[in-house]
Amino acid sequence: MPRHDTLPAWQELQALAAAPAPIISDCFLSDPSRLTKFSIEAAGLYADYSKQPVTEEIFSKLMTLAEQSKLSDCIHSLFAGENVNYTENRPALHMALRADLQSVYPDSEKNVMPEIASGLAQLARFSESVRSGDWKGATGLPITDVVNLGIGGSDLGPRFLTTALAPYCDAGPRAHFVGNGDGADLHEVLCGLNRSTTLFLVVSKSFTTSETLDNARLAQDWLRTELGDDGLDRHFVGITAKVEKANEFGVAEVLPFWDWVGGRFSVWSAVGATIALSAGMSVFESLLAGARKMDEHFRHAEFGSNLPVIMGMLGIWHTNFLGVNQHVVLPYSHYLERLPAYLQQLEMESNGKSVDRDGRSVSYATVPALWGEVGTNAQHAFMQRLHQGIHNVPVDFVLPLKVRHPYQRQHDALVANCFAQAEALMNGRDANDLQASGIENLEHRVLPGNRPSTMILLPELSPQCLGALLALYEHKVFVQAVIWNINPFDQWGVEEGKRLAQKLLHEIDSGELGQHDASTTALMQRYLGQRNKD
Ligand code: F6P
Repeated sequence: MPRHDTLPAWQELQALAAAPAPIISDCFLSDPSRLTKFSIEAAGLYADYSKQPVTEEIFSKLMTLAEQSKLSDCIHSLFAGENVNYTENRPALHMALRADLQSVYPDSEKNVMPEIASGLAQLARFSESVRSGDWKGATGLPITDVVNLGIGGSDLGPRFLTTALAPYCDAGPRAHFVGNGDGADLHEVLCGLNRSTTLFLVVSKSFTTSETLDNARLAQDWLRTELGDDGLDRHFVGITAKVEKANEFGVAEVLPFWDWVGGRFSVWSAVGATIALSAGMSVFESLLAGARKMDEHFRHAEFGSNLPVIMGMLGIWHTNFLGVNQHVVLPYSHYLERLPAYLQQLEMESNGKSVDRDGRSVSYATVPALWGEVGTNAQHAFMQRLHQGIHNVPVDFVLPLKVRHPYQRQHDALVANCFAQAEALMNGRDANDLQASGIENLEHRVLPGNRPSTMILLPELSPQCLGALLALYEHKVFVQAVIWNINPFDQWGVEEGKRLAQKLLHEIDSGELGQHDASTTALMQRYLGQRNKD
C-alpha cells in the first residue's frame, strides 16, 4: 500500500493549499448557489458547510482523495464484518446493534442479529420491571435511583444521552453516573441516596477496569452496612462482554454485550441501559432507529453527498493541508452539555494514532485535539480566541431548532447567538466599517474573519436526531481513519497507561519501589513519605 501522502490527490491538495486561501465571504458573492452546493440533509439532520474554506475544486479533490484512499472498499469491509480492527483481530459491528432486527447482519454465516434481538428483549424486560416497580430491592421497596458505575465508553455515552434526553425521562428512576476512580466521585453520589432503593449498574466490557471494579466493591460495602448480605443481588446488575467475570465478582444478573463492540461505540447495546431505564425502551429504540438511518446514508450515498464523508474530508483539509491541529464543537443546547466530552473519546481515542496499517510511522498529522462547551457559555469563556486569536480553528455548531422547555424567547436568543457566532467568525469586522462608525482603538476591534464553521441543525432534540448525530460522528471518525490509514478501533496507548498504573499501585501497597526514571522515583517517594505520615 503506498503511503497516503504520496497519493496523487494528496499532492494536488497540497498544491491547492499552497495557493492563497479562498475568502469564504467572497465565495458567496461570486457564487449565488454556494449554499445549495455546500449544504445537505441526511438522516433528518441538516448541515451547512458553506462557511468552510473550500472551493468546488478543493471539495472535488478531497472526494478524489477519499476514492484514492479506497474509502469505498473500507466502508464495504466495515459493513461486511471483516476484521477491520486487525490489531485485535476482530470486526467492528456496532452498526449491527441498531440494524433492523429482521435483517441478517453482516451476512448469513456470521449473522449476529438473533443475539442482538435477545439482548434487546432482555434489556426491555429489565428496564420495564424497574420502571414499573416490579423489581424490588432487598427490603421489598421499588428502585428510585440507578447508579451507572463505568468509565470511558461505559460512562460517556450513557451519561451524554441520558442527559440529552432529559425531557423524555418520565416515570423512570433517577440516573446517576460514577466514572472516576477518585473516591470523591462515588462519595458525592452515594451521599444523597437511600440504600434500599438504589440499583447499581456495573458497566464494563472487560470487567477488569480497576476504577469500575473498585467503585463496585465500595458500593457493595456501602449497601452491606445497612442491608447485610441477603438480597444484595437485587441491587447489582452487570453489563459486560465477560459474563463469567461478572458472576465471579458476585454480580448474578447480567445484561451481555459482545467483544465485537468497541467501548466507545457501545452505547447502542445494554451499555445504554440508563437511557432505557430513565426514558423507556421506546425512546431507546428510536435512538437506534435514528442511528440506523445515518448508517444507511453512509453506506449508500455518493461521497459528494455523503455527510460523514464530507465532514471527515473537511477535517482532513484542515488537519493535513491547512495545518490546523484543533477542532471545536459548540452545541447550542444545555441538553448537549456532555457532547464535547463524548466526542473527545470517540475522536481522540479512535484516531490518536501515529502508525499506519502497514506498521509505518505516519509522516502527516492525525486527529486534532477536540474541545468545546455549550453555547452561550462558550461565548463568555473562550470564543474570544476563536474570533481574534492567532489560530484559525474550525468549529462545528450543533443546534436543535425546537425545544421542549417552556422558555421560547430564551431559545430564540440562543439561536440568534449561535448564528451570530458563525456569521462573525466568517465575516469578521473590518477597519473601514469600524472607521465609518467613528470607533476608537480600531486595530483592537478588527476581527480578521474567514474563520471556518459547519452548522449542524437538528429539527429537535429527539432520540432519532440524537442517534443520527452520534452515528454521523462515528462514521466521520472512520472516514478520517481510512484517509490516515490507521486503525480507529484499538487503544494500545490507554492500555499501557493502565498496565503501568497497576504496577505503581502494587509498589504503593508493598512500599517497595521498582525501577523508574529519577522523576517518577522522586514523585513516588514524595507520595509515600506523605502517605505514611500520621
Ligand atoms: O479508556 C480506555 C478504555 O479501554 C475505553 O476504550 C473503554 O471504553 C474504557 O476503557 C472502559 O473499559 P471497560 O468497559 O472494559 O471497563
